[in-house]
Amino acid sequence: MKRIDLAWFFPIYVILLAGSFWTIAQPSLVLAQNADDEIPRGAALFDNWWAALSKQPPKGDMPLWSRQSTNTRSGPDTWRCVTCHGWDYQGKDGAYRAGSNYTGFPGIYQAGQSKKPEEIIRQLDGSRDPSHDFSPYLSKADLNALAKFITTGLIDDNKFIDLTTLKTLNGNSENGQKLYEEQCASCHGMDGAGLKFRFEGMDATLGTLANQDPWRFLHKSRFGTPGTEMVIGYNLGWTPQDGRDVLKYAQSLPASQKASPPAPVMPERPATSPQQPGGPATSFFTSLLTALSVMAAGLGFNILVAAALVGIILLLVWVIRSRK
Ligand code: HEC
Ligand code: HEC
Repeated sequence: MKRIDLAWFFPIYVILLAGSFWTIAQPSLVLAQNADDEIPRGAALFDNWWAALSKQPPKGDMPLWSRQSTNTRSGPDTWRCVTCHGWDYQGKDGAYRAGSNYTGFPGIYQAGQSKKPEEIIRQLDGSRDPSHDFSPYLSKADLNALAKFITTGLIDDNKFIDLTTLKTLNGNSENGQKLYEEQCASCHGMDGAGLKFRFEGMDATLGTLANQDPWRFLHKSRFGTPGTEMVIGYNLGWTPQDGRDVLKYAQSLPASQKASPPAPVMPERPATSPQQPGGPATSFFTSLLTALSVMAAGLGFNILVAAALVGIILLLVWVIRSRK
């Protein structure tokens, strides 16, 4: 009779085991964020599409450039979306409302909030304005990625930045420092001066950039620098707030480079550090998806371990009983 009781347990055990394998093997469940690859891709194209695609920039100025006369840049830069629309995506209504970057060209933030991706694509392929035609250079997939980024990936950070001092409001510097040291210091140095890049015609450190153009800093830390191996916060699962925390910390780094300090010692990251599977958490829905997929993965694993344990115990009991 005892045998019969036990015999019931085995099918249940097998079902549990199979179920947990199924959960783990479901890439669509665990890697739900891969459907969002278009956002970082679109963001990189927005920053610098020819660098992102390893192409040569077109010759001369972008045709629309001649519609303005305040901004004296010329050549390749005039073909970058960001040159006309701004790192805060607000064009003439945002950070580019004055200064050497001013063009008078509109932002894309409002369009991104109110228009459908197809309408954005009609803007990008010249259907609405033949001078605003990127279809000779960008594939259909690229235009889709841009439209996806513009309609779902734009973040208005102005609520989190003091528009007079450009300091981060409500940031958590400790979290920022931790993330910075884990993900950024290996290339940029503990003091942000390990890599010098060009900003407004000068060699800049991260401290300089964070204080002078926080929007550019935020876009870059979320989406990387096209054409380099820089990490992409979005793909690390950073939330918008994580990005602002890192900005806050970076604003405390030295703003001008002095004699380089000794090479930074990188704190080793534990090999098992739980990389959250992605969730950009740019919206409630994506963060929910991420949370669910993480839970599903965790749950699947727990069930697997529990099922294995139960299996071993049952097997032991069975062996002992059958000996009697
Ligand atoms: C040389 C400057 C310039 C560049 C580069 C540029 N744009 Fe524009 N963009 C404009 C101007 C000017 C307008 C509005 C007038 C028009 O439609 O031509 C505009 C309009 C838009 C609009 C519509 C905004 C609305 O309110 O409907 C979107 C979206 C847009 N651009 C996205 C992009 C993207 C994406 C890129 C890069 C692939 C890009 N732009 C590159 C100048 C530029
Ligand atoms: C694998 C190396 C690497 C890592 C890790 C890295 N970066 Fe970078 N970063 C680069 C390179 C290369 C550049 C481009 C320098 C240039 O333009 O010459 C760059 C440029 C930047 C820029 C300025 C780009 C510009 O022109 O405005 C910012 C801001 C930045 N990184 C922030 C970060 C942050 C924040 C992190 C951590 C999340 C990070 N980086 C991690 C390699 C890295």
